[in-house]
Amino acid sequence: MLDLQIISGTDRPGSNALRISKYIQKKYRDEGVDAGIIDLQNFPAEQVIGGRYGEDLPEVEAFVSRAVSAEGLVIVCPEYNGGYPGILKLFIDYFPFPGSLEKKPIALVGEASGAFGALRAVEQLQQVLGYRHAHIFPERVFIPRVTENFDDEGGIKDELQQQLLMTQISGFPQFVQDLNKDSVISKG
Ligand SMILES: Cc1cc2nc3c(=O)[nH]c(=O)nc-3n(C[C@H](O)[C@H](O)[C@H](O)COP(=O)(O)O)c2cc1C
Repeated sequence: MLDLQIISGTDRPGSNALRISKYIQKKYRDEGVDAGIIDLQNFPAEQVIGGRYGEDLPEVEAFVSRAVSAEGLVIVCPEYNGGYPGILKLFIDYFPFPGSLEKKPIALVGEASGAFGALRAVEQLQQVLGYRHAHIFPERVFIPRVTENFDDEGGIKDELQQQLLMTQISGFPQFVQDLNKDSVISKG
């Protein structure tokens, strides 16, 4: 069974990112993939106050390890002030450096109130993920005007955006499998 984890990219209570993550999880189940959700509301932020980089932090390590050990990640990323949420960067900054995102397949879903559906936030995130040598799935999804445009049961109301989301969900597992196969071959 493929180890796919969906990261809900904010700690904001009642977030759209978590609603969307749950919807995506259901759709992966329909494809036969049992993906987990990493909800950043549960990131043990109190443990890292003051900057605890390089220290032994078992709770933080346990939390990030679900993402680090996953074969593939889906990141649901809201737009905050023209960028991605600070908690998402803090989470990534506690991944072991430098190998933890090396060749990691990652699919990206942006969501925002604005008309561009977190395009800015997702592209900033891609810069960081690219620096860490992740492999981004080319089919990105952007959900603009998210409050009116997303429904927990029916998904994205705009037909084309919903189609793009479903194309991402049906194509990403194969991308993950192919990349993990390649990395086994190159390690062997
Ligand atoms: C701190 C904060 C900053 C925001 N900044 C933007 C922004 O720059 N552009 C935008 O389109 N929406 C912005 N919004 C609206 C969010 O993108 C929108 O409410 C989104 O659904 C929030 O994601 P969440 O529900 O997953 O937290 C902001 C919301 C918050 C809470």
